Amino acid sequence: MTRGRPRPPRERRDPRASAVPRPGGPGPRGAGDAIMDKMGVGDVAGADFDAIERMLAVPAGDAAVRLSRLRERERQEERVRMLQSALLEAPDDGARLQALANALRLLDRKAELLDVYRRMQRLAPEREEIGHMIAALSGEAGTPSRAGDRYVRNLFDAAADSFDETLSNWLDYRAPELVAGAVRAALGPGATTSAAIDLGCGTGLAAPLLAPMTRRLEGVDLSPRMLDRARARGGYDALFEDEIGRFLSARRGRYTLAVACDVFCYFGELAQPFRAVHDALRPGGLFAFTVERIAGEGHALGASGRYQHSHAFVVAAAAAAGFAPVSEAEVRLRSELHRPVVGGCYVFRRG
Ligand SMILES: C[S@@+](CC[C@H](N)C(=O)[O-])C[C@H]1O[C@@H](n2cnc3c(N)ncnc32)[C@H](O)[C@@H]1O
Repeated sequence: MTRGRPRPPRERRDPRASAVPRPGGPGPRGAGDAIMDKMGVGDVAGADFDAIERMLAVPAGDAAVRLSRLRERERQEERVRMLQSALLEAPDDGARLQALANALRLLDRKAELLDVYRRMQRLAPEREEIGHMIAALSGEAGTPSRAGDRYVRNLFDAAADSFDETLSNWLDYRAPELVAGAVRAALGPGATTSAAIDLGCGTGLAAPLLAPMTRRLEGVDLSPRMLDRARARGGYDALFEDEIGRFLSARRGRYTLAVACDVFCYFGELAQPFRAVHDALRPGGLFAFTVERIAGEGHALGASGRYQHSHAFVVAAAAAAGFAPVSEAEVRLRSELHRPVVGGCYVFRRG
């Protein structure tokens, strides 16, 4: 068996599929799973991983993935212990505090993470992203209506180089294919539209899926480094570095299709952006997007720093902006901390 971190297999699914797998539900099981079950290897650190790996002499369904998670968890816990002891010597070491925050976030240790962000904020009060995460974890500062421009730009400039591989291979990211599948269903087989805008286009993962459905495709994003990647990928007729609301307000009646794949998780309130999309679309134009979903009525800023929206909130905001519903599906957007992130994939039509 190959040493090192086994990669979860990249799944390919029908983009139109709307079923949400049961959280924590079983995947394909192999002999290795039975071995791990028999050994009582669950979610605990301290197991003899080398012994288990030797026993799993063949690729073994979920077992390889479970083993890699346990190893990763143990690595992060060790990292936390080392960083905490180094920070006793140098409590104001910003780089170590950031590394500690990253590890605590991966381990989902929220109370300690909040404490670390507060220490970081005392050292660098100008860093907008730290304030955003403190608001997300504590709820104290009130919920900002959307993530600030500087926060988004810094976050995605830093993530740009590894974005595609991380999302597609490790996190089983599906928003672009889900949105493209929903647009294809709304347009009808083989039909094309005339002018599309990919809002928060990022590295352009949606471009190859959307390009066959439109005669012109534009993209807009706040992050110059994400846009560099989108430019290199190709598929867009024009790319713009701008904030979505600002950008759309100068383009009334310009588009026949607007898509936003995994972008409204950086917006809390939806009334304003939806209105801006509405006004930038021509009558009959389509608006397709995903949200991370929460139960109930409203919206929330999660500890991840991303916003989640209830189905009722999305539908009300779309209706208030002047959209009519076309389709809606509950979907699995990606995995996070080894759990599926459940979302909604929507298509609306401008009246
Ligand atoms: C999770 S990424 C998704 C990228 C792409 N849509 C995809 O599916 O691969 C979110 C993107 O939205 C952009 N973004 C978030 N808020 C924005 C805003 N207010 N204006 C412009 N871009 C924004 C970020 O810079 C980032 O590239």
